[in-house]
Amino acid sequence: MIAAAEYDFIRRLVYDRSRINLGPDKVELVCSRLRKRARALRLEGLEAYIELLRSAAGDEEMTGLMDAISTNVTHFFREPDHFDFLRSTVLPEWEAARTRKPADVFRAWSAACSSGEEPYTLAITLAEHFKNQPDRDWSIAASDISTQMLGRAEEAIYLQERVKLPEPAWLRRYFQRGVAPYEGTYRVKPDLRRHVSFHHVNLFQSSYEFTDKFDVIFCRNVMIYFDRKTQELLVLRLRDQLTRGGYLIVGHAESLIGIDHALTNVRPSIYRCGQRS
Ligand SMILES: C[S@@+](CC[C@H](N)C(=O)[O-])C[C@H]1O[C@@H](n2cnc3c(N)ncnc32)[C@H](O)[C@@H]1O
Repeated sequence: MIAAAEYDFIRRLVYDRSRINLGPDKVELVCSRLRKRARALRLEGLEAYIELLRSAAGDEEMTGLMDAISTNVTHFFREPDHFDFLRSTVLPEWEAARTRKPADVFRAWSAACSSGEEPYTLAITLAEHFKNQPDRDWSIAASDISTQMLGRAEEAIYLQERVKLPEPAWLRRYFQRGVAPYEGTYRVKPDLRRHVSFHHVNLFQSSYEFTDKFDVIFCRNVMIYFDRKTQELLVLRLRDQLTRGGYLIVGHAESLIGIDHALTNVRPSIYRCGQRS
């Protein structure tokens, strides 16, 4: 398998970079993922890969290491009540705000977007909501620490069996069917893709590149990998990226109970920043 000291080295490296907390129960998983990465680099095995990480060239391999370590499971309309809440509450409230101007843009951030299903689910929800208001602009920033996942998200091509939508009509409305050599896949249509921008963001980098604040942030199924103190730090940083009255939505398994966040808990996994004037 791997010596305790070597695992500890990997664990610290990953924690320093991403704050992902690899427990002792993850040894097997980590080893199998790093072996795969070693093979991709045509290295002899795990030992050679760890040697590379320890060498002067190790810094350049950090992106590869993070790509190998991160868990990227996701799907369209995952935890669908969050999208219902967006439709039924967040958007009507945003439109009804006294200070709302016709030129205002509704902004969402999918802060750990993996292969893109979450930002495109947001895009479908927003496109449906605003379809009778062609002048209303909206945008989605999608980010992840994994460049590999970001590449897939930007490409926007999904296997047919993975495109499961609550409304069958949305398949034709928002996706184009692949023809050879892309048979068996669907690609998100350009009209939807143009609303989504992609950014390589480590949630713990010193500052974020966004100039505008967000009306809603989806940061789901990533906090679960962080320890309590790190979660607290992250929630405070995300709160700074929200407009007044903006919402932070976390995964259902990621309650912020016990975290000092100064947000209002609207319902389980949904939090609000102050009140819109
Ligand atoms: C399980 S996926 C969640 C995808 C989506 N949000 C969802 O709920 O379906 C977790 C994602 O978090 C990303 N991630 C892990 N640590 C991160 C960090 N420090 N900064 C940004 N993204 C990170 C991983 O690369 C991975 O794509």
